[in-house]
Amino acid sequence: MSYRLLAGVALTMLGIPVIAQESNQDPDKRAEAALRQMTPEEKITLLHGPMPSLLQSSKRPEGIVIGAGYIPGVPRLGVPALTETDASLGVSNLNDLRKGDVATALPSGLSLASTWDVKLARAGGAMIGSEARAKGFNVMLVGGVNLVRDPRAGRNFEYLGEDPLLAGMLVGGQIAGVQSNNIIATIKHWAMNDLETGRNVHSVDMAEAPMRESDLLAFEIGIERGQPHSVMCSYNRVNGVYACENPFLLTDVLRRDWGFRGFVMSDWGAVHSSEALVAGLDQQSGEQLDGKRWFSDLMVQAVAQGRVPQSAIDTAARRILRSMYASGIVNRPVQAGAKIDYAANGAIAQQAAEQGIVLLRNAGNILPIAATARRIVVIGGHADIGVLSGGGSSQVRPVGGFALEERQKGGGMSAFTKRSYMPSSPLAALRAACPEAQISFVDGSDPAAAAIAAKAADLVVVFGEKWASEGADHKDMALDLGGDALIEAVAEANPRTVVVLESDAAVAMPWHGKVAAILAAWYPGQRGGEAIARVLTGAVNPSGRLPVTLPVSVDQLPNPVLPGPQVSAAGPAAPVTYGLAAGQKTFPVTFPEGSDVGYR
Ligand code: BGC
Repeated sequence: MSYRLLAGVALTMLGIPVIAQESNQDPDKRAEAALRQMTPEEKITLLHGPMPSLLQSSKRPEGIVIGAGYIPGVPRLGVPALTETDASLGVSNLNDLRKGDVATALPSGLSLASTWDVKLARAGGAMIGSEARAKGFNVMLVGGVNLVRDPRAGRNFEYLGEDPLLAGMLVGGQIAGVQSNNIIATIKHWAMNDLETGRNVHSVDMAEAPMRESDLLAFEIGIERGQPHSVMCSYNRVNGVYACENPFLLTDVLRRDWGFRGFVMSDWGAVHSSEALVAGLDQQSGEQLDGKRWFSDLMVQAVAQGRVPQSAIDTAARRILRSMYASGIVNRPVQAGAKIDYAANGAIAQQAAEQGIVLLRNAGNILPIAATARRIVVIGGHADIGVLSGGGSSQVRPVGGFALEERQKGGGMSAFTKRSYMPSSPLAALRAACPEAQISFVDGSDPAAAAIAAKAADLVVVFGEKWASEGADHKDMALDLGGDALIEAVAEANPRTVVVLESDAAVAMPWHGKVAAILAAWYPGQRGGEAIARVLTGAVNPSGRLPVTLPVSVDQLPNPVLPGPQVSAAGPAAPVTYGLAAGQKTFPVTFPEGSDVGYR
């Protein structure tokens, strides 16, 4: 018996897992060694897991961390469980079980993209990754880089714009930052998941070259730059084949062409077969949402029936293990309960928001607000209490809690996402910055009353909002809540009007020639109010640059009518469901612009 083996036996007798001790070996060797010691059942354990919040409390494994996903480990070999949380804008924590838990909420992806600053992307990633780590998560489902092809798409706010180079560079920085905490990040949603309408049934049909020159390129750059340990495949089909069982995407492009070494996890409810494993999917996430346990009981059957070779199981388990060793989650295990410096992290969120604000118009240099402005009226947007944020799995409950949460009617995920405002009031910040001025507030619900207030002021700051959530696309590009009519009325009464947009993506601005200034603040995160006030007053020079083209109206879009069933005021007619709802039919999505996305 070699000394090494002897030492191993001794360690095992002491109850210390052998694999964990071999920290000086490279991840491939460690993965191979662990795999060799695993039983067939243990290998399958690594290939699937539940969404913890959907488990009855009596069925929750001991010590489970409640987040988006959980993959049990193999304790006897020192293989840790994967504890997974969303996502790109901070540790998302809407789960009832963790109610009251807060995290630092960064501005939206499009805000980050407007900074054009890879270092900032990395700093933000490092910050949210450190919070994930401190809360006991070793996988952060960060890194959304689907391209913004249509301003009506519901998840644009999570993504990084329309340009594959910019988006790829930024997501690479973000992922590298997250993973600098020795945790795993996952780039997502692979691939072509650019619309929410019918996202789990539609097929994006596009030739290979334009795909590789657009959406795929953003991932390629992101993977090259950020080296994520995981990729998340998406709900939709690509050229007729589900992304999570698409050999072209999962094997030809990702592995053969790009040499990706990590593992592929599914999106939650995006798996349709056990054979997906052979196509290149390694892990079924949130398995209750699929309806069938394709990667557990059914996988055992598939192997027994010869539909899936045992070697494919080994390959998938090996990739998952390799990512565990390569990321550092084994050598430096996460532990919930570490102290978080929320003040320092909030400062990063504010810096990001300040740099992400884009000045779209400034007629007569009305901004920055002159020291001589005495009577200022702030209108709408709940600016007296906070700033808007986007809904869905990426929603972060910010430090300080929401200023306001409003339940929404309609399709998509509105049943469980609310229109939520971060607790950072632009009005309060403006008052603090301009102590000499009289600054009043009008809520904007009555355009006539707002116009009267505007007339009596030296300067008007009016907020325009557009709320978006995962799970539904917009029906048009208009502002919410009659915002366009409000701005028209106010600008008519007082041309010294500054519009601050809190929107997910591009919106129509039929009033744009009538107002003096326009700021695109996107969803500016938990310190957005301060950031907006600092840009308005000139404490910060607005230096954000657009990461998306601003079409004048939907007529200018490559698809003036969204593909698939029509989106109604109540949400998409093919609402988001998990797995396949009875009667839902696939439909083609074509993007006539191909690789010429946006200004290209
Ligand atoms: C989203 C993913 C997310 C997952 C887990 C899905 O609905 O598409 O982006 O990571 O849920 O919450």
